[in-house]
Formats: sequence, C-alpha cells, structure tokens
Amino acid sequence: MNGNDLKRLLAQAEKGGYALNAFNCTDVWDVSAIILAAEEMNAPVMIAIHQENFSQLPLEVYGVFVQHMAGAAKVPVILHLDHCTDVSLCKAAVDCGFPSIMLDASFRPLEENIAAVREVVDYAHTRGSVVEAEIGRIKGQGYEGGYNGEGYLARVEDCVRIAMETGVDTLAVGIGTAHGYYEGQPCLSFDRLAEIHRAVDIPLVLHGGTGLSREDVRHCIKLGIRKVNVGTCITSTYMNSMKAQLELHGENAFIIDLIEPVRNEIRGAAREWIKTCMGDQKAQ
Ligand code: 13P
Repeated sequence: MNGNDLKRLLAQAEKGGYALNAFNCTDVWDVSAIILAAEEMNAPVMIAIHQENFSQLPLEVYGVFVQHMAGAAKVPVILHLDHCTDVSLCKAAVDCGFPSIMLDASFRPLEENIAAVREVVDYAHTRGSVVEAEIGRIKGQGYEGGYNGEGYLARVEDCVRIAMETGVDTLAVGIGTAHGYYEGQPCLSFDRLAEIHRAVDIPLVLHGGTGLSREDVRHCIKLGIRKVNVGTCITSTYMNSMKAQLELHGENAFIIDLIEPVRNEIRGAAREWIKTCMGDQKAQ
C-alpha cells in the first residue's frame, strides 16, 4: 500500500459518506489484532504509530513489520506516522516506506506550520507518500503533551491557507475533541467543522476519538470527516485485558499464553469503532 492507495481510499470514503479508522498501535500484538478486526469487518484500516514509540523500537522496525503485515492482509492496511513534530523524522519515515505521514506543527505560529508542512509535502510527494497537517489544537493529554487552554478551534482562514499553500493531503482540525478520556461531556463545534468543510477541498481528520459518542462521530462524518483517530481506547483495552489475564494466570505466566484473549478484546474494540465510522464492507 502506498500514498496513492490512501488517496483512493479517502476518495471512496468521501463518495460513500464514511470514514477510515486510524488506530494507534504499539507492538505486534495490537497491530495484528487491529488487522484481524479489519479483515472480519472487510474494512480498510490505518495503523498509526506515534513518534514516542521510537524511543523503544526504531522507526525502521515499525516500517518493516507493519508493512509486512499490511502486505499479507486481506484488506487495505495503511501505515501512518502519527503526530510527528520533527521534519527530519517525517522524512526518515518516508524513506522507510511509510505511505502516510502526519507533521504536527500546530503548536507553532501559522507561518512556521505552513513552511514545515510544505517541506514535508515536497519531500513526501516526490516519493509517493501523503501528508496530514494540523490546524487548531486537540485538547487534553496526548503523547505530545497536554493542552487545556482556550483558542483550540481551527480558524477557517488558517485551514484554507495551509491547504492552498502546502498541497497537504489531509487536515486534522481542532473542533473541541481531546486526546485521552474526556472530563465531562465532549463539546464539539459542528458549526466550525461545517464551515471548514465548505472552505477546503481535502479530507478532514478527527483526532481524539476515544470517549466520543457514536452519534457525535457520525455527525462529524456527515460534516466531512474522512479519517477518525482512536488511540486511548486501544491502549486501555490492551492494558486492562492484560492485567485481568495476569490476575487469572499469575505473575509467572508467559506472554504467548495470555495474548490471545487480550488480542480478542482489542479486536472487539476495533470492530465497534469500524462500525461507528461505517467502514465495514468498504474494502475494495
Ligand atoms: P484518543 O487517544 O483520544 O483516542 O486520540 C487518538 C488520536 O487522536 C491520535 O492521533
């Protein structure tokens, strides 16, 4: 799978009125569970690897094992670099064959965000990868740090500028979603999302999927979201299920003896998300 495959999948999602799921993964067990879920649902899916993971396992290792599993999958599986804040690392990921790269420079002034995204787009496009940028802020605590301030909403004119001036392929927009679990009820700005969708012509991305209601997610999809990121739900399912297995089998258990029920729970969580985003039966 390459960048063009992702563009095709996003165009199909636009036509069909659904969204692709990008699931944050850490290792071979959650990646394989997500791919199994996607195969069961006959859904295209994205495996999102956050740059933080490279502190424990090199980028190249992710590139090789996820791409190998994607190649063997019965449905389209796209490897994605999530929330990368470093232009050089984005380029390294392109060189490693990541078909999809997110450069997150949303914390920088707009001009700098645009310049950094343009540099990654120029590099990635000549090598067949696609790029996601971000405008506005995703609230809450993420791998990239916490953000709880005001002014998180993406400004429509900033979205238009970054799209026009960089040629970026997809755009993550701050509309009130948060990374991690929500404190209280999520409060999304559907109006802002609709305005952005009217103003820019590229697929929009919703971050902070965990904790959103199916109704809200589907409303966002109706208003132009074509990729929905889900991370915390996968990690917490993984960890809680592993904890339950350890309690059942004792602390000297082998990973291989515990991992099947853990993977089954991750699979179940991913299937629910695919259903929410209406990606089932959309693999072509
Ligand atoms: P959650 O962890 O809130 O699901 O968000 C994931 C995400 O947006 C990754 O980019």
